[in-house]
Amino acid sequence: MGLLASPEIRAGDEAYWRTVREAYTVPTDFTQLEYGWYHPGANRVLAAEMEAMRQGQLRGAHYKRGEMNAEREAARVDLARVAGADPEEVILTRNATEALAIVIRGMPLASGDGIVHSDQDYPSVVEAIEQRARTEGVVAQTARLPLHPHSDDEVVRCFEAAVTPRTRAIVITHVINHSGQVVPVRAVAEMARRHRLQVIVDAAHSFGQLAYTVKDLDCDYLGSSLHKWLGAPLGTGLLFVRRDRIEALQPLFPDTRLPATDVRKLEHFGNRPDSAHRGLREAIRWHESIGTPVKQARLNLLQRRWTSQVRSLPRVKLLTPADPARHGAIGTFAVEGMEPETVARRLLEEHRIFVNAVHHPVVRGVRVTPGLPSSVVDIDAFVEALRSIAR
Ligand SMILES: Cc1ncc(COP(=O)(O)O)c(C=O)c1O
Repeated sequence: MGLLASPEIRAGDEAYWRTVREAYTVPTDFTQLEYGWYHPGANRVLAAEMEAMRQGQLRGAHYKRGEMNAEREAARVDLARVAGADPEEVILTRNATEALAIVIRGMPLASGDGIVHSDQDYPSVVEAIEQRARTEGVVAQTARLPLHPHSDDEVVRCFEAAVTPRTRAIVITHVINHSGQVVPVRAVAEMARRHRLQVIVDAAHSFGQLAYTVKDLDCDYLGSSLHKWLGAPLGTGLLFVRRDRIEALQPLFPDTRLPATDVRKLEHFGNRPDSAHRGLREAIRWHESIGTPVKQARLNLLQRRWTSQVRSLPRVKLLTPADPARHGAIGTFAVEGMEPETVARRLLEEHRIFVNAVHHPVVRGVRVTPGLPSSVVDIDAFVEALRSIAR
């Protein structure tokens, strides 16, 4: 395989993916098809994190007062490179919930101002909006999104229908976690700009999986987990704040020492396990050695491998769009006449395959998420198992 192979060719190169799988430790007592919550890092990521933990333990406050800060600044630079941002627009949070709460809670809004979000956003994001609604009279404005949109325009129109003259901001979930649908962020952001809205992107499932930069999305803020598709340690997250939005954003954890224009004012979390930042840097090196376009093509291929085989099963209904531009790794399905938990339980008990039952007012089904160590053999075994359960 030449170095210049296209992402699509590399995505189907099983010999290459066997070497990738060997870089991870995969469970031997079940098949992991729930990489959507947490995509454990490669072995080298854990080794780097543990070494930093060991040094922190050994050197104590000497580490905290010296190396720790240098490590965090280096991680900020690395992360900014992946995001296509300036390091002065990036902070390291502990997860996506925290990153997005900093934005939603800290934006200057008056009573009666609205934030548009969708009916399929992540619960903790909706909770942050609802808290401002309860305490300050901000209005949560819900857009209803289709499960199987026919065009970007259709999605844009759904968001636009929720906008009023008092709307000030919009939250766009790039990849909906329940169904795996990829939302056309750029097209929605263009509509939002026409209405002078601030654009907040929930990139928990897109960062490190889909190939883009923050500039491509034209957003003001972007928050993500890094323990999902970047394969970084638990306890790492990203917040991007466009330079001209930093000054007005109130920190969730107060910091009056730093100038209001310094993005680090948003990062005053107190002590935290900084060893995760060493693991994060190693995860970025590993991520860059594969490349986002190749990861995206591979995860898309694995998703299509099973969805294309089960689509024709009479009792199976897919809740994820078929268009490859509208999905990534995640696919969700329902089996007619069976509770999602029953399907998930039988897959685990009878076939040792681990997936996730989703209970959401709009998406009720079983979510399947392959990861980088997943093989086509894993996927085909899942298809056979589902055939026998959904007969
Ligand atoms: C779309 C989406 N947003 C936000 C989050 C929250 O992520 P975290 O666990 O990093 O706070 C998740 C977690 O699964 C998610 O799927």
